[in-house]
Amino acid sequence: MSHNPITSQRAELRGSGRRPVLLPRDLGLIALFAALTAALGFVAVPVAGLPVPIILQNLGVFLAAAILGARRGTLTVVAFLALVAAGLPLLSGGRGGIGVFMTPSLGYLLGWVAGAFVIGFLTEKIRAGKRYFPRVLTAVLLGGVLVIDLLGALVSPLFTGLDLSVTLIGSAVFLPGDIFKAVLAALVAAAVHRAYPVPPAGIRRGESAA
Ligand code: BTN
Repeated sequence: MSHNPITSQRAELRGSGRRPVLLPRDLGLIALFAALTAALGFVAVPVAGLPVPIILQNLGVFLAAAILGARRGTLTVVAFLALVAAGLPLLSGGRGGIGVFMTPSLGYLLGWVAGAFVIGFLTEKIRAGKRYFPRVLTAVLLGGVLVIDLLGALVSPLFTGLDLSVTLIGSAVFLPGDIFKAVLAALVAAAVHRAYPVPPAGIRRGESAA
């Protein structure tokens, strides 16, 4: 029977009473996906009438969470945002510093953290095998598009003073691109899980937790 190696190995770990710690490999993966997210910052397309640009960096968030799972995916986003807050110009268009969190982007950036957790959590529940791609896609659409875009649109009026209904309608402009990015992330994540299943956090490749 097909099974999800991440979920079953985690269950074994719980049974053995061992607490999974992040291995150097996990830290390397987190750094790798944070770097990928930073590299995707070269795209920032301003939209007339909207205070937030069309970007590619949420694709980095989708990939980190769908490939690495909830814990490492969320840590990837937290690490990336910590570097931005520290002043590194890693956000789309080369922006950084604590000031970027005092803008209409705040809800989207918080949404990246919540969305990464939801994508990772849902992806970890999916069993490998048939219908894997549509299930990963559903996880990315829920966490990556619904959670992030909704949180972003809800917080944005606090900074712009615009009506929430206007903001919600306006932010529909993000949907085609975000859905395309979700499909791309789900395709890549499904291919990675099939070809090179990433071991769960804290477990070495081939190691039994018992
Ligand atoms: C920033 O660079 O200031 C953060 C921008 C957040 C952009 C959000 S993420 C979801 C939605 N999709 C996009 O392409 N843009 C917005």
